[in-house]
Amino acid sequence: MKEELNKMLQQAMEEIEKAGDLEVIETLRVKYLGKKSKMSEILRGMGKLSHEDRRLMGEAANSVRDNIASVISSKKKLLKEAERKIKMQREKIDVTQPGKAMHLGTKHPITITIEEITDVFKSMGFSICEGPEIETVYNNFDALNADKHHPARAMTDTFYLTEEYLLRTQTSPVQIRTIKKQKPPIKIISPGRCFRCDTADATHSPMFHQVEGLVIDEGITMADLKGTLNRFAKLMFGEFAKTKLRPHHFPFTEPSAEVDLSCFKCGGEGCSVCKGSGWIEILGCGMVHPNVLKEGNIDPEKYTGFAFGMGVERIAMLKYEIDDIRLFYENDMRFIEEFK
Ligand code: DAH
Repeated sequence: MKEELNKMLQQAMEEIEKAGDLEVIETLRVKYLGKKSKMSEILRGMGKLSHEDRRLMGEAANSVRDNIASVISSKKKLLKEAERKIKMQREKIDVTQPGKAMHLGTKHPITITIEEITDVFKSMGFSICEGPEIETVYNNFDALNADKHHPARAMTDTFYLTEEYLLRTQTSPVQIRTIKKQKPPIKIISPGRCFRCDTADATHSPMFHQVEGLVIDEGITMADLKGTLNRFAKLMFGEFAKTKLRPHHFPFTEPSAEVDLSCFKCGGEGCSVCKGSGWIEILGCGMVHPNVLKEGNIDPEKYTGFAFGMGVERIAMLKYEIDDIRLFYENDMRFIEEFK
């Protein structure tokens, strides 16, 4: 039995020595010292021995067991320490290394321009509302007094989704939505995306942005329109800016006008930006057509109003001297980051 114990000790020592990780050590502990181990079997069998043999064998077995236990425990410590070292090495941080610079994004120039425009109108007491990009044909054309045969209704100009729905071609349908749910006085602007079947070139894009404006109250006149747009031009482009109303036609306004801005580049003398005229067209406007007011159940005998609509890309191109509208949509960071 003694021989057996010595053999076991030797074998245990060899296996413990070879163990490369804590898991192996644990299986060796179970194998040599656990309840079902050879050692437990030997200790259990000792009852059959004579008194003297039991004492001798007990001593020997205990010493082998203690020996194995202590070798296992020091090997465990060793392995734990080695594991800790590897972990420390892996997770080492060099605090003297320079940090990684965080790359901050920038606002898109169209967002910046919309914010500039809305800030100007907010300062004049306008509130901001929004309408959906998918609109009814009714809101986009019919309710805005557009003739049944108006060319803008053509499939070649408008993205139709069904007979009833389309991608709005202008922000003007927000006028109808507003007067149908709000009583005068009304003083709102509405920025948003619009869509037309245009092939992209330097000045056209099938998707673009507009800001619509609508003011309705008793006694609103064209002088209020001119005064509002003049103030907008000065706050947006600078004190030098003058505006000029030129007669035009829109179905939803009567009278209608286009607004020209005195050229900020040459001051009116004529240059390449204003194509020699000294003036640059910036928006469409007019007095809200009585038919539109009626459509929203507003009495045109009592109330009058003005409306305007401007292209955000066009304003941004003028303000920041950008000569190709496509630059806005290419997401070239060299272009976008110029607006930081
Ligand atoms: N909706 C017009 C367009 O897209 C712009 C416009 C003109 C809006 C006159 C208006 C307006 O509100 O009164 O060309």
